[in-house]
Amino acid sequence: MNDPRTNPSTPKPAGAPAGESVWSAAERELGITQGGPRNIGWLCSDRVCQLGRGSHLALVWEGIQGQTRRYTYDDLRRCTNTIAAFLQGCSVVPGDRVCLFLDKVPELYMGVLGVLKLGAIAQPLFSAFGDESLLTRLQSSEATAILTQRKHLGKVRKILAQTPWLKHVIVVDAGAAPLQQREIGFDLEAAEKVENFDAHPVTAETPSLLHYTSGTTGQPKGAQHVHGSIVAQYATTRQVLDLKPDDVYWCTADPGWVTGTSYGIIGPWSVGVCQVVMEAGFNTEAWYQFLQRHRVTVWYSAPTAIRLLMREGGDVVKRHDLRSLRHLCSVGEPLNAEAVVWSQKTYGLPFLDTYWQTETGCIVITNLPGMPIKPGSMGKPFPGIEATIVDLKTHQPIGKTGVVGLIALKPGWPSMMRTYWRNPEVYAGKFKNGWYICGDRASIDADGYYWFVGRDDDVINTAGHLVGPFEIESALLEHPAVAESAAVATPDPVNMEVVKAFVALKPGFQGDPDLELEIMNFIRKRLSPLAMPQKIEFTQALPKTRSGKIMRRMLRAKEFNEPLGDLSTLEND
Ligand code: WT7
Repeated sequence: MNDPRTNPSTPKPAGAPAGESVWSAAERELGITQGGPRNIGWLCSDRVCQLGRGSHLALVWEGIQGQTRRYTYDDLRRCTNTIAAFLQGCSVVPGDRVCLFLDKVPELYMGVLGVLKLGAIAQPLFSAFGDESLLTRLQSSEATAILTQRKHLGKVRKILAQTPWLKHVIVVDAGAAPLQQREIGFDLEAAEKVENFDAHPVTAETPSLLHYTSGTTGQPKGAQHVHGSIVAQYATTRQVLDLKPDDVYWCTADPGWVTGTSYGIIGPWSVGVCQVVMEAGFNTEAWYQFLQRHRVTVWYSAPTAIRLLMREGGDVVKRHDLRSLRHLCSVGEPLNAEAVVWSQKTYGLPFLDTYWQTETGCIVITNLPGMPIKPGSMGKPFPGIEATIVDLKTHQPIGKTGVVGLIALKPGWPSMMRTYWRNPEVYAGKFKNGWYICGDRASIDADGYYWFVGRDDDVINTAGHLVGPFEIESALLEHPAVAESAAVATPDPVNMEVVKAFVALKPGFQGDPDLELEIMNFIRKRLSPLAMPQKIEFTQALPKTRSGKIMRRMLRAKEFNEPLGDLSTLEND
């Protein structure tokens, strides 16, 4: 499948040195020089203004009440200065962690850049997280300040006693609401704008962002990124998302997750495009109206949303004028072949699958514009990324086509995480034989295309969001009726996977529908709607290995009707 409307590749600008690497070219295009400014906050606002695009729109935001706010790059520069200066006034210093616990409001997008301008480390957290999810992530980062909204203040107040290092709770919509100790109001719209703020001088290795991500064991880990990551995010934004300065771009991801920062803040604003943001969540009609109203040209979304759109069919599409669209990309979960074919038929454009992770910071395996698409394949390694498939056990490159192994990447690209925050052991464990192991199974075909098979761990990917079983099981244990539990994925037609919990009850408790509902809500409130089990199966006992580890793999395999695999270590089946 070839798409005639996208360019085969971003043309090399005149004067590009022959043989220049994709990363060096990106540095040159970003104007990054040895010792020169390279603060992400500065590159994404001040620099665009310096290039004469200060009056170009940077952000058009639509709130849930239907209100619209528009910001030019000049506004973006001043607003991010103002946030940086305000934080400085709160005695936040470079290296401090600043948590952003906000809905998709302008203060979130600009707040990230403001934190970076100050040289502090931004920790964006999904605002639907409950108090326990918030607490575990703040206990890890020890953030000294948090930006939030009134509607989330209740959750923040609940954990304040356990976070003594959190000195400032900054409320961006406080208005006249009574605030308590440690709380302070900050109204970006009303604040006197700061014209000049000297962005903190950083090197490529200065920490920028912490994104928390779940693994099979232990609490979520903070993938720590650096200012140098912008080189990779810029290059992939140009070449994969194909963004050019006059595009109108919509990334549907929330900056609580890495897609929403790499390609919802850094990528688009380093290119200088106008991006549009819709605060509200998914709604077919509203989404098509939004695309039409803003004449969106490039759209980056996720398979779950695409499946929901497919379910609504093509008639609703015909009622909207979507002719502005020229390029569509998808990330987060496997993009079914049918979705690619459907999108080609319905929009006249295929969704191009892109693969990456919180840890990689940028797209690493992808379909490039103009490259022939094989529906169902993730495409090929991005130029500048060396990838392979290694053996599941020996971690040696397989070197054969069609054999399933683990996706492995040669470390060293600019946006790779530098460590897991205060967890160097787990970080070190991600490398085998000089390769970074992504933890996903895939195979390569004779043409070099990668085909995703599944995750190599027990992490649940629900609607493109990773949920760790350990976090759910720990929270379940806090419920008075629960003796032990296992959280595994179960198939779902829209979200691909949802959480299912197997729960063994303490004596005296009855596993009935009331208790099931109560436990579901218990998890939803403490963790998040994503982590909430959609199904609970009460059971007498859980399958365990001889060493006492719960065999989630077996429970999961049953859910998916897959072969159960090696059960020789099973204790009580
Ligand atoms: C995991 C990373 C960075 C994007 C948002 C998710 C799965 C991601 C694809 C894809 C199949 C995919 C993998 C990966 N994943 N993209 N195109 N096809 N699976 O970031 O939360 O760190 O999740 O999402 O399992 O390891 P994340």
